[in-house]
Amino acid sequence: MTSLSIQRPDDWHVHLRDGAALASVVRFTAERFGRAIVMPNLSPAVTSVDLAAAYRKRIVASLAPGTRFDPLMTLYLTDATSPQEIALATACGFIYGVKLYPAGATTHSNAGVTDISRAYPALARMEETGMRLLVHGETPHADVDVFDRETHFIDSVLAPLVARFPKLKVVLEHITTSHAVEFVAAARPGVAATITPQHLLHNRNAIFSGGIRPHYYCLPILKRERDRQALLAAATGGNPRFFLGTDSAPHERAAKESSCGCAGMFTAHAGIELYAEVFEQAGRLDRLQSFASHFGADFYGLPRHVDTITLINEPWVPPKSYDFGNGTLVPYRGGEAIGWRLADKGIA
Ligand code: NCD
Ligand code: ZN
Repeated sequence: MTSLSIQRPDDWHVHLRDGAALASVVRFTAERFGRAIVMPNLSPAVTSVDLAAAYRKRIVASLAPGTRFDPLMTLYLTDATSPQEIALATACGFIYGVKLYPAGATTHSNAGVTDISRAYPALARMEETGMRLLVHGETPHADVDVFDRETHFIDSVLAPLVARFPKLKVVLEHITTSHAVEFVAAARPGVAATITPQHLLHNRNAIFSGGIRPHYYCLPILKRERDRQALLAAATGGNPRFFLGTDSAPHERAAKESSCGCAGMFTAHAGIELYAEVFEQAGRLDRLQSFASHFGADFYGLPRHVDTITLINEPWVPPKSYDFGNGTLVPYRGGEAIGWRLADKGIA
């Protein structure tokens, strides 16, 4: 039995939801990660500092007593976000990023930005104050093929944006293509990306293996094998621009197993274990700690954690479902073995 101790990691992109759903899932993230960048796509969206403060309180209140977990809050960018709100967000001390959802791109993105030029005043203030822009990088237009949406967005929106605001700190979130890897690797300083476990473990065949598999549907959608290979090389390559972000996105079972199922995969129950599997398969376990625990903190200008977690190279089988508010959710790999487990936590 092999074990591996690493400095405590952080999750730089997670959906914790709200209310009873929040209470059901937050522990999975808090058990593993010291901090997490919490997505603001609630309904209604977290569009102001006041709403973010209230949401943060609800997250903290839902943690088990004694849990040391710091939710890093984000603001949801809209056409109407004012430079003043950006200044307030930067000054408040608990907001770490402003999230750009192109309107219509994904779950609860209807209040998102309809045309990037509408956000220029807010982006200019973010560039000034050092507030980070977190990007869902997809063009949601009907005439752009769903598999090309990330590439289209990078070329038509992101590349010009990064040039127009040369000091703006940008995280291209949950990247899925070799094009995104190349763009981020070659971009000016201040541009980084997060990578999810599912995009490292699967290509798009997983969505159609033996039938249609709604629990492998997330956005941006899984891509080709050559894209997965590029993501793997980026994650395990030691480049500090690429770091961990699970994009764990729980939905009630019925909302996924439906004639029009929601996008999002729940991975928080194995949020670090799955990356250990990936890095082991790549023969690069020695680089898991920098990807999971160093590069994100460094990019955000936050201290690395001094405490550690221990992972044990021993299979465990997650349950086929977890309670989720009044319903249930189907976790990634439920009923199937995962090669690494968290010491002292086991099968939660
Ligand atoms: C996310 C969700 O469900 O909130 N879904 C997903 O497929 N990743 C939204 C998002 O991050 O796109
Ligand atoms: Zn997400």
